[in-house]
Amino acid sequence: MDAAEALASLMSPEGRVDPYPAYERLRAHGPIVPAGPGLYAVTGHAEADELLRDARVRVLDDHLRDGLLPTWRESPAVSSIARSMLRTNPPDHSRMRRLAAGAFTPKRIGAMRDVVTAQTDELIDAMAATGRGDAPVDFMAEFAYPLPVGVICELLGVPATDRPLFRRWTADLTGVLEPEITPAELAVADAGAAELRDYFTDLVAARRRRPADDLTTALVQAHDAGDRLSGEELLANLVILLVAGFETTTNLLGNGLAVLLAHSRAADVLRHHPQHAPAYVDELLRFDSPVQLTTRTTGEAVRLDGVEVPAGSWILLLLGAANRDPRRYPRPERFDPWRAQLNPLSFGAGPHYCLGAGLARLEAQVAFPALLRRLPGLAPAGPPRRRIRLTLRGYDHLPVTVGEP
Ligand code: HEM
Repeated sequence: MDAAEALASLMSPEGRVDPYPAYERLRAHGPIVPAGPGLYAVTGHAEADELLRDARVRVLDDHLRDGLLPTWRESPAVSSIARSMLRTNPPDHSRMRRLAAGAFTPKRIGAMRDVVTAQTDELIDAMAATGRGDAPVDFMAEFAYPLPVGVICELLGVPATDRPLFRRWTADLTGVLEPEITPAELAVADAGAAELRDYFTDLVAARRRRPADDLTTALVQAHDAGDRLSGEELLANLVILLVAGFETTTNLLGNGLAVLLAHSRAADVLRHHPQHAPAYVDELLRFDSPVQLTTRTTGEAVRLDGVEVPAGSWILLLLGAANRDPRRYPRPERFDPWRAQLNPLSFGAGPHYCLGAGLARLEAQVAFPALLRRLPGLAPAGPPRRRIRLTLRGYDHLPVTVGEP
């Protein structure tokens, strides 16, 4: 199978449900391979890491976006992502990132530990009550969605009663992060994005009238202090914080729990030794990454591993494949929390390295030991259902029984 066929197998419905065989088919052609006209696929860990840090390698510029989808400015979904820091190049990116990082301090995140612990305990109580008598519980609906949405909403200052609104809007909007999208999927993503933008427009107006001790107020004040964050950028970055901070962490919790339930001896160690949670979480991130890929373009030609990538090429950085690069991780298909120097690429690398990595790790490091300790009988209950998505990999439905608490 040539590289283009291997890439097509990744994009197929089967590849979206289980991308790992397609990654190996691509890897057989080398860590960085031409996989179509002007298109390169990267499966190597060192290569992906280097490209993400290379200043000649950029996220999509507006003029390239114009070529791909001339009407993107009218699409609430595409324009929200495009105007946020996630899809902006320097100097705009550096300015936005500095402002958001200033509002997103390690102190603010550290102070979230109590909130995360309290929400985790409440959700476990509710799961134990729903699952009494061995009734199956959907872990995604009962835990993996509500924890991250509760935490990000607390950080942004969104009232608890409004949280259920976000699940569908966000799930719909994230369709635009897929490498390919149909017009029907784009219409669904646009509807979700329009709802989210309306919601945040109202929240910004409320915080401007009455500031609060939350991230939304901090970003509003960064904007009002001298127009360093335009109104459009403010809205786009609020949307991206919710979108980037929510479904990704949900998928870390879902993918991670499924792996722990399938590795009962490793789960037992974590149950009794929660101090190993950081290593476990990083290995779960590596083993089945919640974000499987990102894309870049080359502003100038780049030469890597003897492959010349001309200026203006598209690069598909397959983070989930890089995390299973056997040159970096011996026996990569094995879940092994005792690996040295994990450094998975699940949070990216370089200037766009995930702003919320500390928060996501905190949530998972609190949640997994608490789930295992408080619900020792937790077990799979029937086949889980994967979402047919490549970029954000996770479950729609993960049935479990909770046993006797
Ligand atoms: C960027 C993954 C959780 C906010 C990124 C990127 C990745 C990523 C791969 C870089 C994308 C690229 O280079 O194109 C993840 C994963 C998470 C997670 C796997 C959970 C397990 C969060 C959370 C937040 C967040 C909880 C916020 C509360 C962001 C933001 C960016 C970003 C704002 C853009 C940073 C920039 O462009 O400078 N994330 N993320 N993420 N993430 Fe996360």
